[in-house]
Amino acid sequence: MTTAASSTDEDRALKERHRAMWALGDYPALATNVISSLGPTLVTACEIGQGDRVLDVAAGSGNAAIPAARAGADVVASDLTPELLDAGRESAERDGLALTWQQADAEALPFGDNEFDVVMSCLGVMFAPHHQAGADELVRVCRPGGTIGLLNWTPEGFIGQLFATMKPYAPPPPPGAQPPPLWGNEDHVRALFGDRVTDLDVRRQTVTIDQFARPEDFLDYFKVRYGPTISVYRNVADDPERTAALDDDLIALTRKFNRGDTTAVMDWEYLLITARKR
Ligand SMILES: C[S@@+](CC[C@H](N)C(=O)[O-])C[C@H]1O[C@@H](n2cnc3c(N)ncnc32)[C@H](O)[C@@H]1O
Repeated sequence: MTTAASSTDEDRALKERHRAMWALGDYPALATNVISSLGPTLVTACEIGQGDRVLDVAAGSGNAAIPAARAGADVVASDLTPELLDAGRESAERDGLALTWQQADAEALPFGDNEFDVVMSCLGVMFAPHHQAGADELVRVCRPGGTIGLLNWTPEGFIGQLFATMKPYAPPPPPGAQPPPLWGNEDHVRALFGDRVTDLDVRRQTVTIDQFARPEDFLDYFKVRYGPTISVYRNVADDPERTAALDDDLIALTRKFNRGDTTAVMDWEYLLITARKR
């Protein structure tokens, strides 16, 4: 079950760094306050209903897993980062919802072949570094005829461009690691799944973000809550000029995407993908 990519000491160390990064800041607050509409969007696209056996891969604090459980599904929420699963479990319990929360690497899922009716990932598997290994696992654990559903930021959209802007300030990625927003490229996704799926449907959509009064407020929010942004700032923390340049670049990016007059309004683009396992 464990793929070659996930079995080396190097890979274990990389995943440990990723886990620590996603535990920084307060991702659950960001998921609730900024992008909470996206989980239900994916659940609706996957047509999840009563009694479906659903796996949410890289579920975080349950942005998609919790609405799937609310729709009556029997849900396993899996993620690399136990701190996020703990936050999800607490919030589901407050709502009286029972899900299974399980730590798992998306590239080596601890589940059997064909176990789930629906295998979905909301802004999740795209952050696992070896895309083919991640795609192979999604297909393996989905039953024939079952649904695979993904919601991925596009490279051209705001979050794709956020990663491109942060890249020069981050340590170089390890050999073989692929950039997350590639999962927002339709050709890439088609190639990853190949002929193992049918009815591949790809929709390019946006979510409107209008919670931030000014572009600078967006940056202030992400700098203390979003692990990847916190981690990049830490990387240049001992260089005030690089830190100021990163601030300038990210504010310029936010201004470029802002279409608001009095307050900031941005449309963040993603691909919504559904397919049936052959
Ligand atoms: C942007 S968050 C999305 C979380 C959630 N699905 C949502 O919609 O809010 C990305 C998630 O991917 C998880 N992740 C990153 N690499 C992973 C891996 N190799 N295996 C499983 N989860 C991973 C992180 O822990 C984090 O929860």
